[in-house]
Amino acid sequence: MIETSEINFDNRVVTPEVTNDDNDIELSLRPKCLAEYIGQDKAKENLAVYIEAAKRRSEPLDHVLLYGPPGLGKTTLSGIIAHEMGSNLRITSGPAIEKPGDLAALLTNLSENDVLFIDEIHRLSRSIEEILYPALEDNVLDIMIGKGPSARSIRIDLPKFTLVGATTRAGQLTPPLRDRFGVVLRLELYNKEQLCDIIRRSSMILGIPCEPDGAAEIAGRARGTPRIANRLLKRVRDFADVIGDGIITKEIASIALDRLEIDSLGLDSIDKRMLRMIINGYNGGPVGLDTLASAIGEEAVTLEDMCEPFLMQLGFLSRTPRGRCATKLAYEHLGIKCSSEQENNGQLSF
Ligand code: ADE
Repeated sequence: MIETSEINFDNRVVTPEVTNDDNDIELSLRPKCLAEYIGQDKAKENLAVYIEAAKRRSEPLDHVLLYGPPGLGKTTLSGIIAHEMGSNLRITSGPAIEKPGDLAALLTNLSENDVLFIDEIHRLSRSIEEILYPALEDNVLDIMIGKGPSARSIRIDLPKFTLVGATTRAGQLTPPLRDRFGVVLRLELYNKEQLCDIIRRSSMILGIPCEPDGAAEIAGRARGTPRIANRLLKRVRDFADVIGDGIITKEIASIALDRLEIDSLGLDSIDKRMLRMIINGYNGGPVGLDTLASAIGEEAVTLEDMCEPFLMQLGFLSRTPRGRCATKLAYEHLGIKCSSEQENNGQLSF
């Protein structure tokens, strides 16, 4: 049976995407230098080497591609790159660059060694991409002036700059664009200890009294994502102020997060609907992503970006060539009995 959907990703407390509510605190919480940045050790260590090498040669850093699920700090890292290089940061996004003139204006306003951050770079149009290639390779901009037989191309020299591209969908980048990034860094979901450190750092900056056990309780339900951890910290603070004495304890955090319907592992009602649909609607899977998405009234890409990375990290969901399957762990977590046939379907296969 297909359930009608009351799902709304826009007001989901555990959405990893930026919401209006995040803007005020995200800025104040962003670490400014690599030393303040918690987690992503592999990316951080390599980046430190590349930055040091570029500085010693007095050259801009090679173009950097950051990819991974939303909310893990891609914008933050681009700010850190600019800060560590002693350069300015210009921020834009793929969908915001609509016309060739938009990109030309951005590029011609850069100063030497600036960092240009393009979020959702997979959404750049092909025609814009083509203008970007010579800018990335030879620091020149070729633009057409006029139309028809009198049209001519002029070449403008650009300052040397570093492009930092960010995407949740590296597979959608065209090969020529992907090849122009010298540094490609994959960001991973954070573990509970790292999130705990982030929450404690944020609570110090915001002046929110937070006990270590309280931070751990929030970290355990933050779905591996700092943006969610910081958002939950704000919500739990409200409960601490109103039903407690202003201090975030384990008990207050647990009450608050239960009230927000975020369970002990960080699953919310949408994740559970998705898993229940696989289990009850499709006998545990396999079910194709598009079929599943339309059954719960969502877009496939939304489920892929917002639910799947975390469910797969928990080992609750497996991707098989024939579609998505719920694993035995998912049945156990939801308290649903799993037949041996269903268990076989859901064998983890990565
Ligand atoms: N705030 C958000 N992400 C962070 C990170 N990775 N390190 C420190 N503070 C953060």
